[in-house]
Amino acid sequence: MTNILVTGGAGYIGSHACKALSKAGYTPVTYDNFCTGWRDAVKFGPCEEGDLSDRTKLDEVFARYQPAAVMHFAALSQVGESMRDPGIYWRNNVEGSLTLMEAAVEAECFDFVFSSTCATYGEQDNVVLDEGSAQFPINAYGASKRAIEEMLRDFEAAHGLRHVIFRYFNVAGADEEGEVGEFHQPETHLIPLMLDAIDGKRDALTIFGTDYDTPDGTCIRDYVHVMDLVDAHVLGVKWLEDGKGSRVFNLGTGSGFSVREVIEESRNVTNRTVPYNEGPRRAGDCTKLVSGSRRAELELGWQPERSTMKRMISDAWRWHQSGHYDR
Ligand code: UFG
Repeated sequence: MTNILVTGGAGYIGSHACKALSKAGYTPVTYDNFCTGWRDAVKFGPCEEGDLSDRTKLDEVFARYQPAAVMHFAALSQVGESMRDPGIYWRNNVEGSLTLMEAAVEAECFDFVFSSTCATYGEQDNVVLDEGSAQFPINAYGASKRAIEEMLRDFEAAHGLRHVIFRYFNVAGADEEGEVGEFHQPETHLIPLMLDAIDGKRDALTIFGTDYDTPDGTCIRDYVHVMDLVDAHVLGVKWLEDGKGSRVFNLGTGSGFSVREVIEESRNVTNRTVPYNEGPRRAGDCTKLVSGSRRAELELGWQPERSTMKRMISDAWRWHQSGHYDR
């Protein structure tokens, strides 16, 4: 079996990626410090507890498992938090990724799949966001991810570290078989917060800003089903295995949904009232982030077939009602 080192394999996207890898015949080796991940979410392969800053531990793990590739998810990922405390984003995300890349090169593991974000594009009015778009992040989270992309390019030039960079739009939904799902503590994402509010597990949802320059005044995002997203990562590993070289791919569907539209669809799917109120804008939020590229479909053969709003909310709702993880 071919091992793939999955940093952040106990997190939301990482745990779904482990499932997809294992279904595709790989062995995912989770490397996680459990600062935001869940032990219950590690179900599909071995697990090593460690921090990205721990080079000795990383060297041991590379030596023990001899992974054919790295899938790097481990990161802090809250836009709002990154505005309040940018230092932890630069230290954890950027310095941590640097240590990981150095360890990978030293271990001669030269295939690297990186979890980046459309937040690297920032606020760009009337611009079609494709992989060639300029990157002007407006929050420290996006800036940290852009910096890692730059490091990857330098590491390829100097050391031959081949990479696939995936710039995600908004990831939502859950494994349709219910083995893993989305559970953040604290939760900041729109859909799980809304499902909690519908279920009475927390107070009403607050819409962050109703005065944006969009048809209904709320922000617009491009949502992708987490299982579609991780399928692209498996295709990314195969792309590198096949020697196709470094490439950047947006992972979005090209359809934008406003916050109000997501609320409306949740009402339809759950058949319940969505308690919400309207509040001020949240620092660091862009007005509209929608992918304008079909490169992943055309070149990787990616088919985001589960990424309808209805399907994402119903899979998230099923997971939401079935429980959650313990540490
Ligand atoms: N929103 C609310 N109320 C809430 C939570 C969110 O109105 O309580 C709004 C936000 O303002 C935004 C939209 O819902 O307009 C989506 O917000 P999320 O927090 O769910 O997602 P973000 O768009 O802020 O961020 C997510 C990921 C990032 C990624 C980004 C790219 O968390 O890692 O998508 O858009 F970079």
